[in-house]
Order: sequence, then C-alpha cells, then structure tokens
Amino acid sequence: MNIGLKEENIKNVSGALNNYLADLYVLVTKTKNYHWNMKGQHFYTYHKMLQEHYEALDEAVDEVAERIVMLGETAIGTLKEFSKKSVLKETPGEELSEKKMIQNLVKDHEQMIKGLRESIVLCQENKDEGSADLLVGQLKFHEKTAWMLRSSLEK
Ligand SMILES: [Fe+2]
Repeated sequence: MNIGLKEENIKNVSGALNNYLADLYVLVTKTKNYHWNMKGQHFYTYHKMLQEHYEALDEAVDEVAERIVMLGETAIGTLKEFSKKSVLKETPGEELSEKKMIQNLVKDHEQMIKGLRESIVLCQENKDEGSADLLVGQLKFHEKTAWMLRSSLEK
C-alpha cells in the first residue's frame, strides 16, 4: 500500500480508531439494553429515540472497523477486547430508572466526545486527514445525540 502514510502513522491512527471502535461497541450495546429494558412514563418516546441512536451507532461501528482494515490493519472483533479496551462503564444486573439510563447515556456520549477531540488531533499529527474527517463526523454525531438526551431530561 502506498498512500503517503508511514507505517508508524498508520499504527498510531489505527490504535486510536480501535479504541474508538471499542467504545462504540459498548455504547451500541448499552443503548440497545436501555431500548429494551426501559420502563416508565416516557417509555415509548425513549424507546423510539434510542432505536435511532443505536442504528446510527451500528453504522459507525461498521464504518470505523472498515477504515481500520482499509489502512491495512486489523479491526478488533471480539466482545472480550471491546470490553477490555473501552473506557465506558457497564452496570450488569442493575435495575435503572429511565432517568438514570438517559443520564448514563449523556455521560457516555460526553466521554466519547472528549476522547474524539484528542483522537482527531492524533490523526492530524499523523497526517491522516481521512480518519480525522471520519472522527469529526462522529464528534458532531455524539454532540447532537448528547444534546437530545440532555434536553429530554429537562422539565
Ligand atoms: Fe426494537
């Protein structure tokens, strides 16, 4: 492959992309979990909204994984690695109120936004504008999604 990136650049970028992929995978799982198990007076609204979110997250999973492979590297593809690499916390076995679920999702999207800001700079420092562009798109998606979730909590 000869696309003007050094091996070292590709290693750095694909490392950041794999970390983001792990976070995406955990978040898509958590969003589906809440979509299924949420109870409360806003069930239908949240159920529908969370479906939109996990569908977008699922698409992003595929896009990020395929970009890693396009760069000649291996995309993580096991639940063990996703869960080990992700910075997002899961709470198995806990029964959560609908409000707590939405608050958790806001926190997760916000955490991913902060991580993405750093990864975007890393991609640019490694001269990979294509990956930076992909992550900028994702940054905007998480910002918008965090806003929607946050706004739905206001009285
Ligand atoms: Fe569903």
